[in-house]
Amino acid sequence: MKLGVCYYPEHWPEEWWADDARAMTEMGISWVRIGEFAWSRIEPEPGRFDWGWLDRAMETLHAAGLCIVVGTPTATPPKWLVDRDPSMLAVDRAGRPRKFGSRRHYCFSSESYRAECARIVTAIAERYGKHPGVGAWQTDNEYGCHDTTLSYSDAAARRFRSWLARRYNDIASLNRAWGGVFWSQEYRSFDEVDPPNLAVTEVNPSHQLDYNRFASDEVVSFNKLQVDILRKLSPGRDIIHNFMGFYTEFDHHEVGRDLDIAAWDSYPLGFLEQFLSTAAEKARYLRQGHPDIAAFHHDLYRGCAGGRWWVMEQQPGPVNWANYNPAPLPGMVRAWTWEAFAHGAEVVSYFRWRQVPFAQEQMHAGLHLPDRSEDIGAAEARRVAREIAVFGQLKPCAKAKVALVFTYESDWMTQIQPQGRGYRALRATFEMYCALRTLGMDVDVVSPSADLSGYVLIVVPSLLHVEESFAVRLAHSGALVLLGPRAGSKTRDFHIPDNLPPSTLQDLMPLQVTRVESLRPGVACDVLFEGERFHGTAWREHVRTELKPLATFDDGSGAWFVNGKIHYLTLWPDAEFLARIVTHLSSKAGLEPVVLPEGVRTSTRDGVRFAINYAPEARRTPAPPGATYVLGGAILEPAGVAAWRA
Ligand code: GAL
Repeated sequence: MKLGVCYYPEHWPEEWWADDARAMTEMGISWVRIGEFAWSRIEPEPGRFDWGWLDRAMETLHAAGLCIVVGTPTATPPKWLVDRDPSMLAVDRAGRPRKFGSRRHYCFSSESYRAECARIVTAIAERYGKHPGVGAWQTDNEYGCHDTTLSYSDAAARRFRSWLARRYNDIASLNRAWGGVFWSQEYRSFDEVDPPNLAVTEVNPSHQLDYNRFASDEVVSFNKLQVDILRKLSPGRDIIHNFMGFYTEFDHHEVGRDLDIAAWDSYPLGFLEQFLSTAAEKARYLRQGHPDIAAFHHDLYRGCAGGRWWVMEQQPGPVNWANYNPAPLPGMVRAWTWEAFAHGAEVVSYFRWRQVPFAQEQMHAGLHLPDRSEDIGAAEARRVAREIAVFGQLKPCAKAKVALVFTYESDWMTQIQPQGRGYRALRATFEMYCALRTLGMDVDVVSPSADLSGYVLIVVPSLLHVEESFAVRLAHSGALVLLGPRAGSKTRDFHIPDNLPPSTLQDLMPLQVTRVESLRPGVACDVLFEGERFHGTAWREHVRTELKPLATFDDGSGAWFVNGKIHYLTLWPDAEFLARIVTHLSSKAGLEPVVLPEGVRTSTRDGVRFAINYAPEARRTPAPPGATYVLGGAILEPAGVAAWRA
């Protein structure tokens, strides 16, 4: 458990660097990330490198005892490069180039840009790869940020055609897979296929799905290009990328395969404002963030690079980029940091050391104000450092008892054909996560390829395409399994399966879905379960089956089926019903669910149980009577943190 900070020496007078470095170590910070946007200072003109300033910055940081993460600067290609090769720009869905003037102005498919990336990464890695201060590398910065994964450039079109040719071999197979006979969408050769933009109406879903897969593969290979260079020139250093929150346009598990550490950038107040929160949640958790949003990503990214993960950027105060940017409750920066450590983070690194007084992010707080004095976050970081010292180090998190299965592909599928506005695999997964976490469960968010052994409850909220092999592994896992609606509802090619949904799962769940309907917000269907009335929202399925339902709709048809250890929902439950379902299943699985006080969440690491209070009022910890606290005590003030040996 170490603290880090993001630092931009190129933004500050050189005379400040040594004081800054000293102040970092004095604060208890041991990692510093630099360099990820500094291309124009490293190579001010084509082929002319200015290493002097960076050599001195690295020396200064290293001399202070800091361990450095060097970011490759490929998220911000300089103006001269763009002018020399405008074909490297990404092109938006409307066919317009995404020009120079901010950042991430490149297309993952541009081969000329890939060559430039290889050149700059090689130059930096040759210079600093064996520098004693360099502990790790960050490739690029936040792949996909500002909606940049999917590009419709000529380069993307060209590479998409080759990707299709490799996938399908002959054009007849593609026509079959995409159902090209519908609306005369048949092609005579791969050369005729374009990216799926600028069509008159909805594009062919199989075409779009393949484009999503292709774009995701482009990110994977773009990252791999840098990883290969860094591995060769900087042996023994960890390679990291910083992912984002609620971002699904590429498969993070696939990128993670090439990394040593998955990192992500956690901005709890920005996320609360921008994503998947109700108006009531936005008001209630205004200054704390949603109790499950950061944790959800901690538990997701822990599974992306074999278990090792960091928070590369932790919100230190108000940000600049959400619709509204409130200040965190005093204590919240500390609480977010402990939440990350409680979920297994090795490092939590604040963004940024000092608020910058110029350019786009001048309204974004740092640990310091532009005048070099400390801002509120600094004291909280220092406090965490002191607490870690008292606390001692903890081993990584053990495998949880509950697995929540999520695939990026299902999220693409539900976005391509939501069938009911806003229905997304990501949303379904997040709602399930919240329900489990409210009952005090530790959860691993995993891909279907994860090792399922040891889980007693496996929740599959929205897996549209189910590989035969996953169905078999689920059956053999011995766990109780909950399948949400739409499971197995599509083939790999995005067709309705011949044997109807849930297709490959029919051995486990002998039923067939014959009709689905989506429901607008405010419309609910009544469900009867154990004599009590509950509600389904958003989605309802009608099925053919011999099974007797566990819960029924008003007309007596089944809303919840069970076959041995496999459960299937034919509806999307509202929050109350979801809580009931999850309570029922976790008790059955022997998990002893507890209803946590509102706003409180718990997490276990190395035998220590942590509790964090996101409510704006004080709460009592759910610790057993007589628990010995390592941190805090029985009463959790707002933003309070407690930890006890479990
Ligand atoms: C992240 C990004 C940083 C900075 C930060 C502001 O998305 O990686 O460079 O822009 O947001 O919150």
